[in-house]
Amino acid sequence: MSLKKIIQILGEPYFSNEFVAIYHLDCKEGLQKMLANKIKIDSTITSPPYNIGKEYEKALSVPEYIDWLAEISDLIYQVTKNNGSYLLNLGYLKLESQARALPIPYLIWDKIKFYLNQEIVWNYGAGVACKNYLSPRNEKILWYVKNIEEYIFNLDAIRDPDVKYPNSKKNGKLRANTLGKNPSDVWQIAKVTTGANRSSQERTNHPAQFPEDLVLRMILGFTNENDLILEPFLGSGTTTVVAMKNNRQCIGFELNKHYCEIAKQRIEQVECLLQSKKVTLF
Ligand SMILES: C[S@@+](CC[C@H](N)C(=O)[O-])C[C@H]1O[C@@H](n2cnc3c(N)ncnc32)[C@H](O)[C@@H]1O
Repeated sequence: MSLKKIIQILGEPYFSNEFVAIYHLDCKEGLQKMLANKIKIDSTITSPPYNIGKEYEKALSVPEYIDWLAEISDLIYQVTKNNGSYLLNLGYLKLESQARALPIPYLIWDKIKFYLNQEIVWNYGAGVACKNYLSPRNEKILWYVKNIEEYIFNLDAIRDPDVKYPNSKKNGKLRANTLGKNPSDVWQIAKVTTGANRSSQERTNHPAQFPEDLVLRMILGFTNENDLILEPFLGSGTTTVVAMKNNRQCIGFELNKHYCEIAKQRIEQVECLLQSKKVTLF
């Protein structure tokens, strides 16, 4: 189904262009509408609230939070095409008298209908410095697929060119792939919300913004050109702008109007960039 047709069904977006449509809407409502109207997406790339008291969160008990996330994930499962992926970035939460910083995947991973293909460790380098315990420096990305026999994995698109001995040969043939090595399941990508990158150009006022490089690796590795990506927790719109730059489409839902506006402005900047590069939008 074309993005135009999807917009006709879902109703007036907060903002749209040929590549993206963003809605000022609770993702549960948006997903239910998609399901009722048989709208399918290729893959989802997202980071939900972690229920840790951030300004954009509604406080829930841990069981309520896990039930809610499982319910959203179930809707995502139902609107995902058979070869699609669900890339779910999760951090930690406090479990009263049990755990200071429990990785959320421990609580949710098996309550999601997709097949858990792999856990990716996102090592972000800089962050809060702690005194009584080790300073956290990673979050996880759960790479779920709908169908283990048929899923998109474009390894060559995400190979790491930093090969130690690129000219090493065996029987006269180069040992290393000339495109680079497999980037592994540990990704070292700096956050834009902490450390030196806080002053980077891509930074917005959103407190939990994804770095574009993180989304880029997911988009190139786990989706194809012209795919329709879902971002149910849009935030500042990182997934949408990286999708646009890489010839993918994206539908986003965001509860907070101020963040919709940040996302809209980022999208407009990318539109200008693409036009100035004389990239044909369609
Ligand atoms: C972790 S942030 C996502 C940040 C995003 N990855 C970015 O790059 O900016 C989660 C976002 O989900 C939004 N949100 C929370 N509950 C929501 C819901 N039920 N439906 C849609 N958006 C929601 C919050 O306002 C917040 O902006």
